[in-house]
Amino acid sequence: MESTEQTARRDLIRICHLMYERSYVVSSDGNVSLRLDDGRILATPTMTCKGRMTEDLIAVTDLEGKSLNDRKASSELAMHLLIYRERSDVKAVCHAHPPHGTAFAVAGLAIDQPILSEVILTLGCVPLASYGTPSTNELTDAMQPLVKHHNALLMANHGAVAYGSDLWQAWDRLETLEHTAKIAILSRVLGGSRNLPADAIEKLINVREAAGYLGESARCQACGYLHETQLSCPSGDRPSVRAADVANGASKISLTREELVELLSQAVNGHDVR
Ligand code: 13P
Repeated sequence: MESTEQTARRDLIRICHLMYERSYVVSSDGNVSLRLDDGRILATPTMTCKGRMTEDLIAVTDLEGKSLNDRKASSELAMHLLIYRERSDVKAVCHAHPPHGTAFAVAGLAIDQPILSEVILTLGCVPLASYGTPSTNELTDAMQPLVKHHNALLMANHGAVAYGSDLWQAWDRLETLEHTAKIAILSRVLGGSRNLPADAIEKLINVREAAGYLGESARCQACGYLHETQLSCPSGDRPSVRAADVANGASKISLTREELVELLSQAVNGHDVR
């Protein structure tokens, strides 16, 4: 019978191939990892095409990132380790550059509008972490406050990451993220999307909690959906331009106080107006 580690290695390769076949990555983009029960991390090696991944290429590290075999793990391993540190429930992480999700990240938009009931049930809001240079602390620092409260993140001008209790859940969440972004963009082409009303969203949140799809700790994921009803977001991160404003072609955008001050500062030739 196949051991847990053998199954994990096989699934990791299947997900790498799926990522490449679906064009969620090209060339050597993206990285995938999982945490084994003994704490070891299996990760894709750096600079390797996910379409050509084989089991013998898998890197093994400890939770501090120390290499335990002769493969050099992804340059983004620190991002994976951050997620494992912040979320004891997470056992797998998938990072890719799926075109529609990444288009949101490039446009400076979170995927946080309540346009699809199934997405509220299974994924919740996907916030946008501000830009940080890949493979540096800038990236992990930008992501850190968001990781606890969300199951997938967009990384500004970079891509997307999703995580879950096993590889398939991490993959499913990445797939849902990309599918949602695609539908949001297509609905714009058809004239704009219509958000679900607040009472429908509350019902969905109750259903997802009763069914155990997402726990109460994820309630903050409603921040983008229920911002009118003032559910607080412990991550403190609110996207500055709401996807619905863009999706509906509205000229109105919302800014936080800090962003407004920043804009005014720029408008008066760099003078600080704070
Ligand atoms: P690695 O090849 O080091 O995993 O980096 C790929 C990537 O997508 C960086 O964002």
